[in-house]
Amino acid sequence: MSQSTSLHVAVIMDGNGRWAARRGLPRAAGHRAGADAVRRIVEAAPDQGVTALTLFAFSADNWKRPASEVAALMRLFARHLQTETPRLLENGVRLDVVGRRDRLPAPLVAAIRAAERATAAGTRLRLRLAVDYSARAAIADRHILPDVDLLIRTGGEQRLSDFLLWECAYAELYFTEIMWPDFAAADLADALRAFHARQRRFGGLPEAAAG
Ligand code: FPP
Repeated sequence: MSQSTSLHVAVIMDGNGRWAARRGLPRAAGHRAGADAVRRIVEAAPDQGVTALTLFAFSADNWKRPASEVAALMRLFARHLQTETPRLLENGVRLDVVGRRDRLPAPLVAAIRAAERATAAGTRLRLRLAVDYSARAAIADRHILPDVDLLIRTGGEQRLSDFLLWECAYAELYFTEIMWPDFAAADLADALRAFHARQRRFGGLPEAAAG
């Protein structure tokens, strides 16, 4: 059996708000804890064989949330990009942000450009952050990413929410009840173990039956 050398994992990071509510904290605290989880998973992913990681940070439909939450998220993204860039560089991570930029606040757009430029030579992990992203819009505009091997959604819901619809044509889907701020390296390892135990057929026959 040939072992593929590329492994593209995509994550719908859901459950920040519920994580905070269960602790009597404001939703923004859940998003901050979510940013810590992003750092942990980005650092753990390459050691677990992940070569590309695409994270759904803000959907084109998330603009419907209260303006105060949206503004807090935009500030959090900008701050995270600024503070994390040195670690990304150290870890050989190349960061790209996918999605629309014309509706983002100027300081965030500047932080995105700076982080992308600074990390452009990274070869260990291709990290894509989807911000103001809609898969339907991306397909219509022909902004297609590499095929996803494994899609993880945290927070207990089982839906795709307009994320990487084209790229997930043959993705294995993995849903977990864990809230995103609690998602740890060991949980990523569990998801990858489940993924490697599955047999992918891409519409063909199982190896034993293929003759
Ligand atoms: C879903 O939780 C999460 C989001 C809409 C935002 C994702 C943002 C982060 C993980 C934080 C920081 C990210 C980066 C890249 C720094 P929810 O608010 O929908 O949770 P709920 O379903 O429990 O309300």
